[in-house]
Amino acid sequence: ATIDQGSFTWSAPSNIALVKYWGKKDKQIPANPSISFTLNHCKTITKLGFSKKENNGNFSFDLLFEGKPKEDFKPKIEKFLERIELYLPFLKNYHFTIDTQNTFPHSSGIASSASGMAALAMNFMSLEKALHPEMTDDYLYQKASFLARLGSGSACRSVKGSVVVWGNHNNTKGSSDLFGVEFPNTIHDNFRNYQDTILLVDKGEKQVSSTVGHDLMHNHPFAERRFAQAHDNLDKLSIILQNGNLDEFIKIVESEALTLHAMMMTSMPYFILMKPNTLEIINAVWKFRNETKIPVCFTLDAGANVHVLYPKNVCEKVLQFIQDELVGYCQNGHYICDEIGFGAQLK
Ligand code: PMV
Repeated sequence: ATIDQGSFTWSAPSNIALVKYWGKKDKQIPANPSISFTLNHCKTITKLGFSKKENNGNFSFDLLFEGKPKEDFKPKIEKFLERIELYLPFLKNYHFTIDTQNTFPHSSGIASSASGMAALAMNFMSLEKALHPEMTDDYLYQKASFLARLGSGSACRSVKGSVVVWGNHNNTKGSSDLFGVEFPNTIHDNFRNYQDTILLVDKGEKQVSSTVGHDLMHNHPFAERRFAQAHDNLDKLSIILQNGNLDEFIKIVESEALTLHAMMMTSMPYFILMKPNTLEIINAVWKFRNETKIPVCFTLDAGANVHVLYPKNVCEKVLQFIQDELVGYCQNGHYICDEIGFGAQLK
């Protein structure tokens, strides 16, 4: 088919890793497998407009963020286009208008690279499907995840499914370093509608980018042991996701979060992304869990914000606790209630 012009709009969610990706073997190839919950409310919505142009050897695109031209995001997109051109040979035959917005506030410390790259990858795959209508949906989603990974590693886990594994792992059927796959086994009802309340401790820009952080795992004294541990933790978590053991879930998830930050603290150069209020929140969560036996736990990304994870059926009590005891540790009292979602959607 030939397509002269048109547009698509896709939304894609953020995701929160349970077993963390931290370190690359090679360009965009993870040093260890990771697994994440897909979020539902924290999303990027991107409209991709396209019109045919002469292939003059250059990419051509305009970028709008929240309706306004955004020059400083352009180099990142340009780099992404360079990386994916090999797999989408039509890219230089079109002028694109990329019109993007997030459902969560800009500079909230919530990384928009996963949702943003996933939404853009889905749009490009919609255009590829328009050019090749025989393409199956399975192929479309798998290739979208493959492309999203080239933009930002964790983005490949934001394309399809509620629980997504990325990276070769012996005990996860179909797993690959090249794209995310849906967790292949039946997930216990305890994890249905699992809640993630994101406490915004520090909305500023990260002092250390994840690119730099991944790089510091080369020559890191604990790297090999850490990568082996991630495999073990994914083995354990796979069983837990099927048998619904929340006490064991909590142990793995919290240990993974602290290990991620321990890797940062023990790299050379070393750095700390947690803030005093991050620790205040962690201690308050532990105290609340001890006193109430409610299975609430925390995880962290590469930043100071805390994700509070808990089952839907304890929602009221946990939200009360958050309001009474944790909101004070959040910047401007700001937090976001999210829950498990299912992936990218065509608008
Ligand atoms: O996708 P990147 O390169 O920004 O790396 C993200 C790494 C963590 O968020 C810290 C962990 C993860 O698995 O998402």
